Amino acid sequence: MIYWDPKLETGIAVIDEDHKTLFGLLNALLRIIDDGEKADDAALAISALNDYAVGHFKREEALMLLCGYPGQDRHERDHNAFRQGMKSLQHLFSINAGMVNLRGVSDFLLNWLQQHIAVSDRAYVPKMQESSALIAKASENLISCTSFDL
Ligand SMILES: [Fe+2]
Ligand SMILES: [Fe+2]
Repeated sequence: MIYWDPKLETGIAVIDEDHKTLFGLLNALLRIIDDGEKADDAALAISALNDYAVGHFKREEALMLLCGYPGQDRHERDHNAFRQGMKSLQHLFSINAGMVNLRGVSDFLLNWLQQHIAVSDRAYVPKMQESSALIAKASENLISCTSFDL
């Protein structure tokens, strides 16, 4: 079981809600592992985490673009590395679930998320705060978007 760390909050509501949801989805995967890991359940949990992460990255990238954040390219490369890693994980898991050390994968995902939020996401906060009125307006639309309709 992992817990949301309030120190990771960015102060941007739409982003913080996404990050908390990602932690929740990772917790769902950890629960499946703790319960003895049924491959089908684990595959669904990985897929849910991946889909939500992809949607979150799109929302974050849209907000970065909106406020003219200069570090966007580098940030998107980080997101792309995660997207590629998840794709490889899903592929490997579909071929031979037994080969995948899911606890190790979960530890990696937790570390990645914590580091990414604490360092890369934190870096855009001042720029988004400068554009807080724009962000608030855009967030109303982004909150209603899912990873499927972005
Ligand atoms: Fe993020
Ligand atoms: Fe990010």
